[in-house]
Amino acid sequence: MKKDLLKLLDLSRAEILEILDTADRLKYEQKNGIAHDFPKGKTLAMIFAKSSTRTRVSFETGIFQLGGQGIFLSNSDSQLGRGEPIQDTARVLSRYCDAIMIRTFDQSEVEQLAKYATIPVINGLTDYTHPCQVLADLQTVREHKGKLAGLKLCYIGDGNNMANALIVGGLKCGMDVSVASPLDYRPDASVLEYAATVEDAKFTLTDDPKVAAVDADVIFTDVWASMGQESEAEKRKIAFRGYCVDDAIMALAKPDCMVQHCLPAHRGEEITEEVFEGHADEIFDEAENRLHAQKAVMYLLMKNALN
Ligand code: CP
Ligand code: NVA
Repeated sequence: MKKDLLKLLDLSRAEILEILDTADRLKYEQKNGIAHDFPKGKTLAMIFAKSSTRTRVSFETGIFQLGGQGIFLSNSDSQLGRGEPIQDTARVLSRYCDAIMIRTFDQSEVEQLAKYATIPVINGLTDYTHPCQVLADLQTVREHKGKLAGLKLCYIGDGNNMANALIVGGLKCGMDVSVASPLDYRPDASVLEYAATVEDAKFTLTDDPKVAAVDADVIFTDVWASMGQESEAEKRKIAFRGYCVDDAIMALAKPDCMVQHCLPAHRGEEITEEVFEGHADEIFDEAENRLHAQKAVMYLLMKNALN
């Protein structure tokens, strides 16, 4: 395991599977009242330059369940908001804490933080990627389907942080991945370059959701305007017309196709109320697994840092 979790591109298939297996074990232990084998008193600094419900609560709960403490830092109440450089913040937090989670805009800020921090850095979402979410997503699909390799993962919508992470995570786990995005909203070039190099899985990119959805085992979608893109919301509603996961899309997928959404969802935009509520159990299992997957990431990275 590397020092940090910055993006799934940095992880091997074996490392992803180690995280998923650890997440399953920690979930079992937590549900059965079995103590986690983890040193007490570790602290996690949590930097948020964007809003969050799931990420904040699941990380803070997760470090508490591991016997430690989370420390919430928003830009407005830390010196980051007044311009203290990320490399100084990294070195200061490394003197107090045992790991840092950061949610921010540019991936370069996370990379910079990791470069200067001597403790593990975990990416809790950037404009480029959302690796913790996709680890939870893979855990959820594997729980429901019993496997990942050979399944067809379909993503319909904006080629955003979720699309980027799902393409890499799905392909690394041997899934076939199909993506439908409008031409002007395609996933990141670095991700498409990676997808082109993968030999044992199939990747397809189209602008037609009806093509992407055929025979899917799991369909993912996400909001059309991500955090930081609020001013583009109206323009995007027009660009993404036809990209709503509805009954017609679901009819093209396998009859037992799952639906996943990282949340928050905009019902009536990227997903209909009917499809969302029909798959709510799967979607909230996915939300729950943020807790277990992130505990696994903290467990493996922090234990690694002790050795
Ligand atoms: N899915 C997700 O990351 O949710 P939050 O923005 O609430 O953390
Ligand atoms: N793409 C969304 C994901 C939120 C969890 C965003 O970045 O706002």
